[in-house]
Amino acid sequence: MRHNSPATALAQGTGQAVAKAILLGEHTVVHGTPAIALPLPALPVRAVARPTTGSGIAASGSFGFLAGAAAPATPTPSGPRVAVEEALRRWGIEAETVEVVVYCDIPLARGLGSSAACAGAAVRAVADLYGRELDPAALYDLVQCGEQVAHGRASGIDASAVLADGPIRFHAGTARPIDVGMDAALVIADTGVSGSTQQAVADVRRRLAADPRAARRLLDRAAELIDAGAGALSAGQTRTLGATMLEFQDLLGELGVSTPHIDTLVAAALAAGAHGAKLTGAGLGGCVLALTDTDAAPSVSTALRRAGAVQTWTVRTAGLRAGALSLSASTPERGIPS
Ligand code: PMV
Repeated sequence: MRHNSPATALAQGTGQAVAKAILLGEHTVVHGTPAIALPLPALPVRAVARPTTGSGIAASGSFGFLAGAAAPATPTPSGPRVAVEEALRRWGIEAETVEVVVYCDIPLARGLGSSAACAGAAVRAVADLYGRELDPAALYDLVQCGEQVAHGRASGIDASAVLADGPIRFHAGTARPIDVGMDAALVIADTGVSGSTQQAVADVRRRLAADPRAARRLLDRAAELIDAGAGALSAGQTRTLGATMLEFQDLLGELGVSTPHIDTLVAAALAAGAHGAKLTGAGLGGCVLALTDTDAAPSVSTALRRAGAVQTWTVRTAGLRAGALSLSASTPERGIPS
């Protein structure tokens, strides 16, 4: 139900966004390289916003929060709350108070963009509640306000990918659709370990600052790999893309964001026939992404779970063409004991 401001007690607004996976370019994108990412519609977030005058949250979901005039002050508000507060301010309705309940299918803190997706869904829900038009640039900007809190310094890749309708090449704040010319599978494996994006981003920044000449070499190499990966993805060169992912994983290891658990999962995917594998997202836990032929995907997925992944999802790259994503593109698979 939509109402113009002020919203009535019966009104509610809803919004959605989805998870994302970074194929190439995490961390280096914060320092100016491009990155390639894809939205994952099989892992959605839905948010419901209602006007409130109270201080409690009536409905239960994955989590909820209040934003606006009557919301209690907190020393470190979450990214989604920061994004919603900023939206209310920009729309000139900061005297309102809203309750936002978020229903999130994305595992939190696993490199799949949960903070950006929750912020995107929350802002869309509040816009729906107050009948505000949200153009893509305004929405991106609001989600980025929340991401700056979640990441310390966010490149914008997450905010772009969780709102995109197909794979993107992101560079310097601009996202463009990228062609996918291959029918392969991406298996995403959850280490079960929460990683702190803020800590990982700060660690990488320190490491790069400590040796600027080595940092330049590494970032130049990263940019070459990302360009090669984009070309291979478009041209359907699965082996080249897999090899590029492996090289990028080495580079992320040099940046200090891989872990022995991630390295074990990468090795398990390769041993089961994957063309390449790497961590995806900030690392220090989170998820591993493996590229395989479609017929090898089930055995790669099983190998990853036997090696300690708590759950896996498989995405067919053929379903990833811009604007053509469907909810059946990903298959959730529960972890099995080794
Ligand atoms: O927060 P995550 O794990 O989804 O990954 C964010 C990607 C980084 O490159 C590490 C940070 C950024 O802002 O680009």
